[in-house]
Amino acid sequence: MSDSKIPLAAVIGHPIAHSKSPNVHGYWLRKYGLKGHYIPMDIEPDKLPDLLPRLADLGFVGANVTIPHKEKVMEIADLITDRATLIGAANTLIFRKDGRIHADNTDGYGFIENIRQSIPDWNPKSGPAVVFGAGGASRAVLASLLDVGVPKIMLTNRTRVRAEKLREDFGNRIQVIEWVQAGNVLEDADLVVNTTSLGMTGKPEMRVPLDGLRPGAIVNDLVYTPLRTRLLATAEDRGCRVVDGLGMLLHQAVPGFERWFGKRPVVDEDVRAAVLR
Ligand code: ATR
Repeated sequence: MSDSKIPLAAVIGHPIAHSKSPNVHGYWLRKYGLKGHYIPMDIEPDKLPDLLPRLADLGFVGANVTIPHKEKVMEIADLITDRATLIGAANTLIFRKDGRIHADNTDGYGFIENIRQSIPDWNPKSGPAVVFGAGGASRAVLASLLDVGVPKIMLTNRTRVRAEKLREDFGNRIQVIEWVQAGNVLEDADLVVNTTSLGMTGKPEMRVPLDGLRPGAIVNDLVYTPLRTRLLATAEDRGCRVVDGLGMLLHQAVPGFERWFGKRPVVDEDVRAAVLR
């Protein structure tokens, strides 16, 4: 792409209509007065290997990747960051000038930054975390928590074998807890994270007893529809410090935006409001 061309970026998924990423990037492009466009792109899985390399020729500088392509793009990319390899999925692509596709995963970064910005005195090394769920989002959360030095993670999942697999992949700072026992370990936790879809609009509520939550503990729900889930409302009533999931969506978008459009955007109340509109 010559420097005079307007940079294009996309979010690719299937389906894609629900994605909030165009609102986020569109808001920042307008706020900073930058030339550029960010568009949603619905790509069927079997078309991905052909279409992805052609995006660069069309003037795209990069893309975000969402369900169901986050694993598949790893097979197509030419360069993969260590953190994307560890998580086993990519959410951010850079189409380099030499034609190569660079795959990164910024979900863990977004997760950590969301908590740091919401709770500036958070010390990840101060105590154990409890993590609910063992899907793709959990992999990003576990990798980043271990990276920032959380001493121990108690991991619980309805399907225990998926949690066991994550312990194999991420090592023995992870301890697998029976789903029905999870309520009993909450009192030990400095940080509690829900990576499951429980509590999302249209999905069942989380049924784990929450009376073990310790006042002062940090509770983060990755679910952001609704923003104030029952988990967060209960935790707040118990004196916990709560962090909603919208910030992770915003922070994970920062590295891609900076790389594609040349400006590091700020995550603030204005962009939150723009996304919620
Ligand atoms: P993601 O990439 O968003 O993490 P996923 O890989 O489909 O999505 O994982 C969804 C997570 O939510 C899993 O931990 C799943 O538990 P299972 O591994 O037992 O399926 C969890 N989950 C979804 N619905 C659930 C339910 N009704 N009860 C308990 N856990 C549920």
